[in-house]
Amino acid sequence: MPALNGLRFCLHTFGCQMNKHDSERVDGMLEALGASAVAAPEEADLVIFLTCCVREAADERLYGQVSSLRNLALRPNSTLGRRLIAVGGCIGQRDGEGLMETLPNVDIVFGTRSIASLPSLIEEALTKTTAVDIEAKGEGFSSALPSVREHQWAAWLPITIGCDNFCSYCIVPYVRGRETSRPMEDIVAESEGYVADGVQEITLLGQNVNSYGRDLYGSPQFAEILDAVAATGIPRLRFATSHPKDLTQEVIERFATLPNLMPALHLPAQSGSNTILKAMNRRYTREHYLELVRALREACPDIALSTDIIVGFPGETEEDFLETLSLVDEVGYHQVFTFIYSKREGTPAAAIDDPTPREVIQDRFDRLLKVVERHAYEENQKDLHSCVPVLVEGTSKKNKDILTGKSPKNQTVHFPIPAHRSVDQLLGTIVPVSIEEARTWYLSGRVVE
Ligand code: 5AD
Ligand code: SF4
Repeated sequence: MPALNGLRFCLHTFGCQMNKHDSERVDGMLEALGASAVAAPEEADLVIFLTCCVREAADERLYGQVSSLRNLALRPNSTLGRRLIAVGGCIGQRDGEGLMETLPNVDIVFGTRSIASLPSLIEEALTKTTAVDIEAKGEGFSSALPSVREHQWAAWLPITIGCDNFCSYCIVPYVRGRETSRPMEDIVAESEGYVADGVQEITLLGQNVNSYGRDLYGSPQFAEILDAVAATGIPRLRFATSHPKDLTQEVIERFATLPNLMPALHLPAQSGSNTILKAMNRRYTREHYLELVRALREACPDIALSTDIIVGFPGETEEDFLETLSLVDEVGYHQVFTFIYSKREGTPAAAIDDPTPREVIQDRFDRLLKVVERHAYEENQKDLHSCVPVLVEGTSKKNKDILTGKSPKNQTVHFPIPAHRSVDQLLGTIVPVSIEEARTWYLSGRVVE
């Protein structure tokens, strides 16, 4: 690999947790080669974008940001004599060399499985006009690369990449390719390394972790991965994302049997209408989804559920939308990520005409938000006056005397720095907090001494 001594890079990361993980690897790999990270693009020789293309807004954001770099002056003492721009992640993978036609000031394009190629692409870009690798000449799983973790106490751990589900609205399977699972030994070895390193929380990642292992010899099950990673003694274990059609009773039972598996699950429903679920090719019904929720609550009565909902899928009627509203009401989620349908060329849903006016869809979206907020508020009330263990993540953006962290149910918790303790002492530790106030999006309280 080429040495990159003195090179300064600035990394912009959009999108999902997988991109956040990849971003930590890009950072670790470049720093290991002698480069250093800077926060502002004007101070950088190389600006890297790790992109998302799930919705159109993400494309527009990239185009805006890359174009605005055109007029940015070089930093004084720039080592390259020019500023390189690299685009990786989903848009890089989707567009390849074609991206340089849309955005001529881009020098390097790399794909979702080609992160390890970036150092040689940088070298190539300095001698040639184009430097592109979307062919997975890199490692596939970027996990073997060094990493600079955003938080020393938390680690993302990909167990699968790609997706085989082809939900009719979704571009991901076309971009990230077929589902590939990592061998169980690699996952366990990486987890053991994190435990030895003092990491407090591991989040297992995949587009659909529930279908882990189907491509591996002996078809190991996701529930076995949970057992093996939990057995390393990691204090907190989480995973995302779960497709409801593949969530097994075995995995559900792990919420009852594994004390370090946190009582929170993200289970994207997308819609509450069976007609729309069918058109989305989700391959479960509303009834099946509700049955999963019942089984999860039986295994773990206090489990916090979150979900993704798409409003305005082509052909969605008022009746369909009311089914979604009633599903959200019936489940009572802690958190719902709400999206307005975004047409993605190349997906089956993009071919469906939809006469529904934009205002009608926006109105549905606003009505959904009201129900979401009511439930988030109500669910948080259940923790009022209880004592919750909080993994401390940092100080509040608004007030440096207030610490913030996450409860087992993944709620944000704020509390004042206790007397005789410093922020540095508490960062990355788990402290008991007595909850005195419960709002829609956070809890607040005091550390129990
Ligand atoms: N339009 C709107 N939302 C989408 N998602 C995926 N594709 C689209 C699309 N075309 C949402 C889904 C998914 C989340 C990550 O993004 O809800 O679960
Ligand atoms: Fe997209 Fe569906 Fe795969 Fe999720 S499961 S990444 S929504 S195709």
